[in-house]
Amino acid sequence: MTSSRAGAVCVLGIFARDVTCLAPRQPRMGETLLADRVYEGPGGKGSNQAVAAGRLGARARLITRLGRDAGAALARETWEAAGVEPFVIVSQTQPTGSALILVETATGRNAIAVHPGAAGELCPADVEACAGAIETAAVFLTQLEQPLPAARRALEIARAAGTATILNPAPAAPLPADLLALCDHLTPNEPEAEALTGLSVESEADARRAAQALRAMGVGTVALTLGGRGALLCDATGEHRLPALGRGPVVDTVGAGDVFAGAYATALSEGRAPREAVRFANAAAGISVTRPGAAASAPTRAEVDAALAELA
Ligand code: RIB
Repeated sequence: MTSSRAGAVCVLGIFARDVTCLAPRQPRMGETLLADRVYEGPGGKGSNQAVAAGRLGARARLITRLGRDAGAALARETWEAAGVEPFVIVSQTQPTGSALILVETATGRNAIAVHPGAAGELCPADVEACAGAIETAAVFLTQLEQPLPAARRALEIARAAGTATILNPAPAAPLPADLLALCDHLTPNEPEAEALTGLSVESEADARRAAQALRAMGVGTVALTLGGRGALLCDATGEHRLPALGRGPVVDTVGAGDVFAGAYATALSEGRAPREAVRFANAAAGISVTRPGAAASAPTRAEVDAALAELA
């Protein structure tokens, strides 16, 4: 990696204005339930990942589409605060993305419905217009909330430029093998690994089988996240089980996977080995679940370094 690329992380993905409702439980279809609390904040997996990387000290960039509305203003304010450089195409017709999130008060577990809005129109030509941001980064990271052709084109550009590629395959969906072959790293959670492999992922042995299957499908390194149980890393050197690094009671797991992905990308961009990158990402995600919000829960570099120093 050339020194000018080191520490640079480019993300393709969506921004969403999250409306989060804390409730005692998930309402049944047709039922109205009184909520404990409601708040709004910045979200969208791509934006959350770029914000996490920026807060952790990466030179973070985000390629996306926004509308011309209050959501777009929130997006720009969020990126400025986190030091994220935006590469934005403004839609004249579509609104900025938004998401409805329900968090179960007692457990912090969540259910999400997201509408990408303007970012649902991201296309290969948009990505080509921002190719320089990908080609000059150490790491490129994307997810599946924007159309697949845009993600594919970006992965191709990154691969051709020697930029390490990471796909966070969320929301869960089956993917063609030629797309997985463009991924140097994949960061699925358990349901996402199931959707990709068709294997059930319930036990530790299942997780290992699914991770090996993903490598056989063409992925270089698989960092399979296991929620409160940590992560399983599977690469050419073998399988490595890395524990969760919790920092207190879980209040809200929204965005924890995004913080993991943004932190993993940041550590790789600094030249760290995947095993060390997963440990760094576990520490960052462990802090994020102790706080409410998606992008808002992403920790700073000083917080993650302090958590790791305490564990050393
Ligand atoms: O991963 C959490 C995110 O998923 C939320 O911020 C929501 O906007 C959806 O994109």
